[in-house]
Amino acid sequence: MPTYEKFDHHSAECRDDIVGYYAAFRDKCPVGRTDAHENGYVYLTRYADVFQVARNDALFSSTRAAGNLEGTAIVIPSGPFGGNMQYPLELDPPDNVEYRRLLDLILSPAAVDELRPMIARHASRIVDEFIESGSADLVEVLTNPLPSAVTLDWIGFPEEDWMRIGRPIHDVFTSEPGSERAQRAYEGMAYMEKRLAEIIAERRANPGDDVISRLLAERKADGSEFTDAEVFSVIGIAITGGVDTTTSLTGSVLVHLDEHPEMRQQLIDAPDLLVDGTDEFLRRYGSVTAMSRTTTADTEIGGCPVQAGERVLVPWFAANHDPEVFTEPHEVRLDRDASRHLTFGIGTHRCPGAHLARAMFQEMIHQVLTRLPDYKVDREGVVGYASRGNHMGWDVIPATFTPGPRVGDRIDQFQGASHDNETYDVVLDAVDVVAEDVLAITVRAAGGGTLPRWQPGAHLEMRLPSGRLRQYSLCGQLDDPSSYRVAVLRERAGRGGSEELHDIAVAGRELTVRGPRNHFPLVDADGHLLIAGGIGVTPILAMARSLAARGRPARVVYGGRSRATMAFADELTALPGIEVDLVPQDEQGIPDLRAAIDATAPGTAIYCCGPSAMISAVQALCDELGRRADLHVERFAASDEMEARLASTENNKPFKVELARSHQVLDVPVDKRLIEVVREVLPGLNYDCEKGFCGSCETRVLAGKPEHRDEVLSDAERESCSTMMICVSRSQSDRIVLDL
Ligand code: HEM
Ligand code: FES
Repeated sequence: MPTYEKFDHHSAECRDDIVGYYAAFRDKCPVGRTDAHENGYVYLTRYADVFQVARNDALFSSTRAAGNLEGTAIVIPSGPFGGNMQYPLELDPPDNVEYRRLLDLILSPAAVDELRPMIARHASRIVDEFIESGSADLVEVLTNPLPSAVTLDWIGFPEEDWMRIGRPIHDVFTSEPGSERAQRAYEGMAYMEKRLAEIIAERRANPGDDVISRLLAERKADGSEFTDAEVFSVIGIAITGGVDTTTSLTGSVLVHLDEHPEMRQQLIDAPDLLVDGTDEFLRRYGSVTAMSRTTTADTEIGGCPVQAGERVLVPWFAANHDPEVFTEPHEVRLDRDASRHLTFGIGTHRCPGAHLARAMFQEMIHQVLTRLPDYKVDREGVVGYASRGNHMGWDVIPATFTPGPRVGDRIDQFQGASHDNETYDVVLDAVDVVAEDVLAITVRAAGGGTLPRWQPGAHLEMRLPSGRLRQYSLCGQLDDPSSYRVAVLRERAGRGGSEELHDIAVAGRELTVRGPRNHFPLVDADGHLLIAGGIGVTPILAMARSLAARGRPARVVYGGRSRATMAFADELTALPGIEVDLVPQDEQGIPDLRAAIDATAPGTAIYCCGPSAMISAVQALCDELGRRADLHVERFAASDEMEARLASTENNKPFKVELARSHQVLDVPVDKRLIEVVREVLPGLNYDCEKGFCGSCETRVLAGKPEHRDEVLSDAERESCSTMMICVSRSQSDRIVLDL
């Protein structure tokens, strides 16, 4: 590992290898002091230290006053926005709270879901404008215009302003200080400010059904109005904070997918992977690399004394690459649960635009993967930001692709991203024992009708009466649009989901489901080897049936404890053209996976679904035999582990929640989460991870004793009983009063 003389997050060394740069300092001196820039600063490199500082506004302030600075104190060196104070970013609690509420209102998951068709419309139109050309700078034609148009349209700027303002926002982040481009950037920003002030004044005079009118109609806690200047500040930061950050993230991911064609293909084959993968991309390529705070009293960080007045660099990027929290952090792993990442910050200023950013990013990636899937980046021609100190991204991404047609109004919106992601009710139609401890359950749409179409490898998410969510692979007939079939093994040593489903599975029972979603699609290949272990046979059966129907040769290797435990063995062996090796362990031992893989020609697609140990063994063999690129596996493990913690209702007791501001008292039963109950009456509520990691749903407790189940609050905060994460936490007292 290289050693560096002195820490400087704006240095060329940091720019050229930002992961390695932070790793070197994390190894040598994880919290340190440097004299670079202005009067020097304390730098951090570890997740725990970044987390601690960003969550403690009393000791680490975001205000200019604490740092005695003219410009913004939230970056090092201090920012140039001398005149304009950015609310709420440059305020500490409680001064930020009123302004933050405005942002949460217009950027909540529900509010962003309403914007999705508009985002898709812009994305489609923007791609139409260059799709026939066959080559373009993807930043110029897509990743800058889309967030600009969406943000400015949403706020009410007319079309002629979108690019006039959008391009300068990018230039502010990328141009050399003092250059002609920087001059143009600041002229563009001045124009944006003038137009924003005019639009606010217009809406004040003639309120309409738009974002600005909505904010102007809001009142502060004391009943007073927000002034035009306050609304200007809040909206101004949403524009400048939201556009280029999303541009940079998307550019980085497009370059990554150019460098990793197998991952690009995976996303093309299974678009649903992008939903879960988005946070992993955010973790790895978070575009806001670092911000800063100012220390208000003598203290220590990670064992290092820090004095009042010292500036502290808060590198979100370094936290996201701390191997203590994310193994092999430099790798993008789409099946990683990355929801602890700090790309959106943590604490009172955590990005309220997270949902909008994800929605714009996903729509852009969706457009590229469906309309220019063979794009090729000219790696010699890419230009990165001159510094990665505060932001990271690409200024120019020249690419070529096969020209395609315009689509006009035929807009193909990215499916599967919405928060309210279509749940619906089904009725259990038939329940059959198909092997020892295995039930096959057939469901139909409650009220009749057809069910969404699916492809082999897809799974259905079922909400059990206890609130547990479980995913089951579909294994019925593809061409039957009126029913789905899943098979469930009773796992006596499991977490209770399969036992519960076995216990309640009687014909006529209703369940809520979501999906199907497909993370495990069947790709076209010269041949297919399908490896199943135990109940992992379910997606394999659907795949084998589909290959048989198309006359494609395939071999299935199916291992199980004994014949009696092996569901669907007869259905599999009856499929024409499919060679099936049934390997009951009590008769033949475990399948010879090495021989099975070795017998296939390179290019044969290898699918594996079964116990973790089997998947790991197949992965290791494929690595050894140089066949990893041919391997497809499905694990539900990341979400399972989480689910185990969140879904257990065992220790829940019912309580009442009183919403002080909206004067409502609601019952929270054992099988519902507090956030679910609150959301039913406050649909505009803001939240994000729903796992107790991100702090977005933090809510003030006015009375009662929370039962904390999150991973954000410190011990002191827990004991104070004054705040809680309503997504996972509950109440110890019979009644809890929240500031909602
Ligand atoms: C990938 C895209 C984005 C990234 C990486 C990002 C990152 C961040 C980070 C790290 C913060 C926390 C600042 C701190 O703790 O000091 C933040 C705050 C903020 N972001 Fe984002 N952001 C993104 C997109 C957006 C979007 C789309 C919007 C709005 C349209 C937005 C609006 C804001 C605002 C208003 C704040 C200040 C919040 C406050 O102080 O309470 N951001 N963002
Ligand atoms: S939504 Fe993330 S902690 Fe509650």
